[in-house]
Amino acid sequence: MLTNGNRQSVAPGQVIFAEGEAGDCAYLIESGIVEISTSRASGSIVLARLHAGDLFGEMALIDHGVRSATARALEATTLAVIRRDQVLRKMDAADPLIKLFLRVLLRRLRETSSRVDASLVSGAMMESEQTRDDTGFRRLREQAMGILEREQRLEEALWMGEFKVFFQPMVELATGRAAGFEALLRWHQPDGTVLEAEDFIGLAGDIGLMGELTRLVLERACAAIMPLQERVGRRAFMSLNLSARQLGEPEVIEEVLAALQTSGVTADHLLVEVTEGVLIDDPVRVGAALRRLKVHGVSAGVDDFGTGYSSLSCLQRFPIDVLKLDRSFVAALADGGGSPKIVRAIARLSQELGLVTVAEGIERVEELALIRELGYDLGQGFLFAPALPLDEAMAIVGTPFFDPASTAFVG
Ligand code: CMP
Ligand code: CA
Ligand code: CA
Repeated sequence: MLTNGNRQSVAPGQVIFAEGEAGDCAYLIESGIVEISTSRASGSIVLARLHAGDLFGEMALIDHGVRSATARALEATTLAVIRRDQVLRKMDAADPLIKLFLRVLLRRLRETSSRVDASLVSGAMMESEQTRDDTGFRRLREQAMGILEREQRLEEALWMGEFKVFFQPMVELATGRAAGFEALLRWHQPDGTVLEAEDFIGLAGDIGLMGELTRLVLERACAAIMPLQERVGRRAFMSLNLSARQLGEPEVIEEVLAALQTSGVTADHLLVEVTEGVLIDDPVRVGAALRRLKVHGVSAGVDDFGTGYSSLSCLQRFPIDVLKLDRSFVAALADGGGSPKIVRAIARLSQELGLVTVAEGIERVEELALIRELGYDLGQGFLFAPALPLDEAMAIVGTPFFDPASTAFVG
């Protein structure tokens, strides 16, 4: 047998490998003929004759078992050799469910042939699949089942209406009145657990449900703008969060426009929030999507600003209208840590660039006072209101959240 890197030449009649041996590569036949045979109690049985383009030796490669049959060249044969590490790297990256399918398939194939053989000889029972489970296989099965269960739960949840869109007011710091709302997708599970969009949107994308969830948020958010605006008593905007993956979907722009049209809301009421991380990771695609939205009149905001490593100057490359300072800055300020100078500088520069500034995560009266002092336009946080169902949000936004003259908090 002549080996040349990834290629092997085999002479006619030569055994490539024998049944029962360990094996760590598979072969693709480039030319020639390979006979696959197995020895049974009744004698040797030819299982297959393989030709150019056929693959063999894949079973032992995948499951680390022994060769299930003998391979012999029937004429001068050339083989391309596939090493285990080349395949395993790809298999490791595969979905656990696919891996489980492959392992089960292989195991069944091996067991079926040995059962058929055993029953021919003595009718003896083979050990069950369960008793032969090794820990690696058990772990893979548990992992795959866990994912499958979560995926099926997610599908079920959509049917059962467990996804809700809640609304959190953004308050104008000069007047204490609501200026807009952030629409937030939540998964209310029957056991009372509430998950936020970031906990399940990735999984939803993996199983093809992201479009459905995006449409749900768009529909509910657009339908809520006018009723909320009417309660506030002046113009109000609606903001919603889109991930890189959502913005990367080619249909997303059409879906935004369709939701606006159905609800009769004009595009200038809508703000799309993307996190700073998303802008840094996928600037080309996300930038293109934001620009297309901008053409139609939809504004964009950068969310969680200050957590990534972008700068205000780099934000200028995107059509950004709103900057949301990450909540960690607000918390640090009132604790006496953090740097009021940086927080003020961000506000000043943003205003110079014509951006509306929002401070998120305002929970205490002292935080509100500091953020107002530092010159932010809008504030959002539990001090005013958590994200609420539409009717509850409607009930509280008719009056100011605080008295701007006295800075006395009336919420
Ligand atoms: P492996 O078990 O690694 O080594 C023997 C190979 O023979 C096996 O992988 C398969 O590629 C091949 N093989 C086993 N059973 C059959 C069959 N019934 N028909 C065709 N090829 C087989
Ligand atoms: Ca947000
Ligand atoms: Ca945020």
